[in-house]
Amino acid sequence: MTKIKKAVFPVAGLGSRFLPATKAQPKEMLPIVDKPLIQYAVEEVVSAGVSELIFITGRNKRAIEDHFDKAYELESELEASGKVGLLGHIRNILPKRVSCVYIRQQEPLGLGHAVLCAQPVVGDAPFAVILADEFMDVPIGQPSVTKQMVDVYEREGLGVLAVQPVPRESTRQYGIVTSSPYRQNLEFINSIIEKPQPEKAPSNLAVVGRYVLNSAIFEHLRGLGKGSGGEIQLTDGIASLMKEEKMLAYRYHGRRYDCGSKIGYLKATVNIALRHPEVMSEFGDFIATLDLARERK
Ligand code: G1P
Repeated sequence: MTKIKKAVFPVAGLGSRFLPATKAQPKEMLPIVDKPLIQYAVEEVVSAGVSELIFITGRNKRAIEDHFDKAYELESELEASGKVGLLGHIRNILPKRVSCVYIRQQEPLGLGHAVLCAQPVVGDAPFAVILADEFMDVPIGQPSVTKQMVDVYEREGLGVLAVQPVPRESTRQYGIVTSSPYRQNLEFINSIIEKPQPEKAPSNLAVVGRYVLNSAIFEHLRGLGKGSGGEIQLTDGIASLMKEEKMLAYRYHGRRYDCGSKIGYLKATVNIALRHPEVMSEFGDFIATLDLARERK
C-alpha cells in the first residue's frame, strides 16, 4: 500500500471564535505553553512519517510561513549570547527531510475548497488532512493520532476519518457519520452529513479534524456546489466519493481539545502545562493553592 508522505493543513480560516486574539495573528499560532498549535500539528504528522507539508493559507497568515522558515537575526543573536538551548528549539523545528509548500486560498470558500487547492501539489498520492485547531494529545511515547490513522490506511487500503461521539446538542458543529462495525476501533462509514441540527442528526458520531484520503476526492470536490453555511464542504466531497469507495471511521486513542474554542484552549493549556518540564512543578503548586470553590463565586 502506498505510504502517506503528504499532509495538507487548511489554515486560511478566520478564527472568529477567538477574537480579538486572532484579529492580527493566525489562530494556528496561538501557543499551548510555548509552542504554537500548528507546530504540535506538524510534529504529529512528522512522527507519522510525513515529509511534505502543504499549508493552504490566506491573508494574515504570514506568521505561519515565518515560523517554519529560518530566522537569521534571531539565530545570530541567540548564538552571540550563548543561548544554545533556545537556539536548538528554533533551529530544529522541522527535520531536514521535511519540506513545506504554501498555497494561497484567495477566497474563504470552505474546507472542501481549501483541500482542492492542494491538488497541484498532492497529485495522485493519498494524503492526510489536519485541522490544527483540533489539538490531539496522546500520552508520551504513544503513536500520534495521525500515525494511528496512517497505520490503518496502510493496513486496510481505505480512506480513514477520525471520529468521536459528541453530545447530541453539538452535532451542528461537526460532520456526522453513521457506521457499521468492522474491527476493533474501526467502522465502515455508511453516510456522512455536515453539521446536522441535533433533531435531524442521524447519530452523534463526529468527524474531528483528521482525515486520510485517496486523491480521488479531488474530482468529487471539484464538482460540488455550496453546502452547509454556503461553503464548499469536505464532508460533501467525502459523501460523493463514498459512492465509489468504502471509507473507515476510526475511534482514535488520545484526547482531543477543540482549541478553536476558548474552553478547549484553556483545558489544553492547563493539561500540557502540568507536564511541561520547565513549569509543571511551580504551576502544579499554584493550581493546588487555588481555593476553587471560593474562586468560582
Ligand atoms: C470542520 C468540518 C467538520 C468537522 C470539523 C472538526 O468544521 O467541516 O465536518 O467535523 O471541522 O473540527 P469547522 O470546525 O471548520 O467548522
